[in-house]
Amino acid sequence: MDAVRRPIIIAIDGPAGAGKSATAREVALRLGLPYLDTGAMYRVVGVAAMRRCIRPPLQPACEEQLVELAGLLEIGFTGDPRDQRVLMDGEDVTNELRTPAASVMASVVSAVPGVRREMVRLQRQLAAATGGVIEGRDIGTVVFPDADVKVFLTASPEVRAQRRFDELVGKGVRTSWDEVLEQQRKRDERDSTRADSPLRPATGAHILDTSGLTLEQVVERVLALVP
Ligand code: DC
Repeated sequence: MDAVRRPIIIAIDGPAGAGKSATAREVALRLGLPYLDTGAMYRVVGVAAMRRCIRPPLQPACEEQLVELAGLLEIGFTGDPRDQRVLMDGEDVTNELRTPAASVMASVVSAVPGVRREMVRLQRQLAAATGGVIEGRDIGTVVFPDADVKVFLTASPEVRAQRRFDELVGKGVRTSWDEVLEQQRKRDERDSTRADSPLRPATGAHILDTSGLTLEQVVERVLALVP
């Protein structure tokens, strides 16, 4: 008798600006799989915290409040992978999620173990029935360590900062390249040195440096790994 196969899960991890989003969206579209942007979930928690005037550095009492908040928030996604909208308690907050302040706050709240616990629970729940292409920092290491495909995308800090800068300018956010590079350095450090689920390649992950590659080349390499 055939074993019941669970839906396919493709984990795409790596630092900011490595090309995770563009790659994951395109792979999801081509395979007809759902796309799950887990960074957006931490960003929603960050934005919700900022609206409640919670700012870094976090006090221990604030951390408890944040965990409670993360458990109560209703985080949802609508639209196809190329134009996905993110909902916070039914409100479309997609544009608010990408400001530099929201990026810092997302990184700060994502270091709180209780917040991670809530998000991981939700991520497993969202992807369990349908599978999907899941983008984040700990998908292959923590959320779905038995994913069918694990990819760790990376690129040089300068290439990553340039991509983020272009993305922000394209969205009309006023910033400078130096500021983007400096924020990225701080965020990389926070994401990879935190005690809970630090950013690192999972066992069995395919490491792909995207510095000299086009999006199409990266997508093709990921698709070639799919069983
Ligand atoms: O991918 P992103 O830039 O939207 O992620 C926002 C922040 O959330 C980033 O600082 C790292 C954190 N994050 C995380 O800790 N774990 C994930 N699975 C996804 C994102």
